[in-house]
Amino acid sequence: MRKTFLSKSINETLRLGHKIGKLIEPPLFIALIGPLGAGKTLITKGLAKGLGINPDEVNSPTFTIMNIYDAKFPVYHYDLYRMETEQDLEALGLTEFFDSPEAVVLAEWAEKGESFYPSDYLTIRLEYGDKPTERDVDITASGKLSKSILGKIK
Ligand SMILES: Nc1ncnc2c1ncn2[C@@H]1O[C@H](COP(=O)(O)OP(=O)(O)OP(=O)(O)O)[C@@H](O)[C@H]1O
Ligand SMILES: [Mg+2]
Repeated sequence: MRKTFLSKSINETLRLGHKIGKLIEPPLFIALIGPLGAGKTLITKGLAKGLGINPDEVNSPTFTIMNIYDAKFPVYHYDLYRMETEQDLEALGLTEFFDSPEAVVLAEWAEKGESFYPSDYLTIRLEYGDKPTERDVDITASGKLSKSILGKIK
């Protein structure tokens, strides 16, 4: 299942994230994919707001690899940009949280740890649009749970 959106501004991306954030609960893994500056952290701020987290707390864990936020449940925010190999990622012992039954996982540059994805997950892919403030947002679902969420995103 796939849905596509056109975001015409920073605010529209935040709002889309906010809407999705209100629909999700554990267990859920979201892979956030797209080039540098596409808006992965920005949409994560919207997702966080929808989950009841202060978006100002949300910053890319570029050096720490993972942040943990407290919502009604733990929210793990990954940034795998600096991971050179999947072996490095595994060696850090951080991949076990990908499949956490009681958490929501938001993973920037998730494709660098694709072997560790759970089977049912959402992918949010952001691409630069025609204008500098436009982004194409493509969302796909891989399984029963993620499809039921994607079905509710309008
Ligand atoms: N419609 C839009 N949606 C999202 N971001 C936008 C939009 N228009 C402009 N921007 C700008 O694009 C940038 C997105 O930055 P952000 O840090 O979210 O990217 P990122 O994908 O997380 O990058 P990185 O790979 O470095 O982590 C911001 O500077 C934001 O202001
Ligand atoms: Mg980022």
